[in-house]
Amino acid sequence: MYKILTEQDFIFKNTNANTPEKGNITWKTPSNIALVKYWGKREPQLPENPSISFTLDACFTLTTLEFDKSDNDESIDFDIFFEGEKKETFKPKIATFFKRIQKYVPFITAYKFTINSRNSFPHSSGIASSASGMSALALCVMSLEKQINPTITGDYFNKKASFLARLGSGSASRSIEGELVVWGKHDDFNESSDLYGIKYPTEIHKNFKNYHDTILLVDKGEKQVSSTVGHNLMHQHPFAKQRFAQAHENLSKLNTILQNGNLKEFITIVESEALTLHAMMLTSNPYFILMKPNTLEIINKIWDFRATTNSSVCFTLDAGANVHILFPEKEAEIINKFIVNELLQFCQNGQYICDGVGFGAKQIKNI
Ligand code: DP6
Repeated sequence: MYKILTEQDFIFKNTNANTPEKGNITWKTPSNIALVKYWGKREPQLPENPSISFTLDACFTLTTLEFDKSDNDESIDFDIFFEGEKKETFKPKIATFFKRIQKYVPFITAYKFTINSRNSFPHSSGIASSASGMSALALCVMSLEKQINPTITGDYFNKKASFLARLGSGSASRSIEGELVVWGKHDDFNESSDLYGIKYPTEIHKNFKNYHDTILLVDKGEKQVSSTVGHNLMHQHPFAKQRFAQAHENLSKLNTILQNGNLKEFITIVESEALTLHAMMLTSNPYFILMKPNTLEIINKIWDFRATTNSSVCFTLDAGANVHILFPEKEAEIINKFIVNELLQFCQNGQYICDGVGFGAKQIKNI
């Protein structure tokens, strides 16, 4: 039997519960890389199509939430420190997040929060920190809920953490568990929901165990167009309907591939998804380009290498110029050499990050 939770299930109801006076909670939460892309959303932060991602490992956010009841006036009140420095510029996004989740975690207004956060990857590296950042904060809030109501199950905890994270950033809903997460209703996955991500429910083929993702930092500049603006451009997009239908089909195909281990077919779906994402940007109104010349240089090098070596290396892209190089563990030695010898020349200041599939967020016990 499976159970799909509804929005109502996430409303915290025990208003008479005892809330702790003060304390702090720390979570280490990974980034993720989508294989079938989420691009297009509607209120309240619901995806227009289902997506699936590999949870990463080396790219993470570490967030501590300090909570204190003594100094509060029943409003949402917090300070945010990033890498030790107070960051007023981060406040509006987090304030919006707290406002959106207040209905589901009303106890947050009883506290003054101090948030301390840092990323494992360089700031403004072009790696989106909203997935790991928002999921870390959502998990901290859920740990506070668990202190107030210790009876909640692990399954509910994860689903509500994903539900809350989604309200901060859509892709953050996929940064709670590992190794793969499906977010968005899809016929192949009985328990899937637009409201939260679920762990990919079937054992994956050994080819996809310890899959590598080496992230080539091509351009660290600020994006000209934010993801939120890009998502919204899908509303009037001439190809939106076909795109959303295609994402459903690609997720079905990938579901089969993840179980049968067919690497050639994996490559076809994953690269097509990456290029389709950027094709949506190229064909929206207004149109825009996030790839850089070196993004295309890298793609062409990968295609040349595959044509001459029968390698299973492939690429994917997120909403930026950086390239994620995906490859199986058994080919790691030879592909690492290829990356060093032929691809690093296209990275800004030679920067890259060796990452791979991880197992999800972890609470760090406070000393
Ligand atoms: C291209 O999750 O960053 O990375 O919901 O507006 O915060 P918001 O957008 P965001 O969009 C990420 C889009 C993507 C594809 C993906 O991760 O599926």
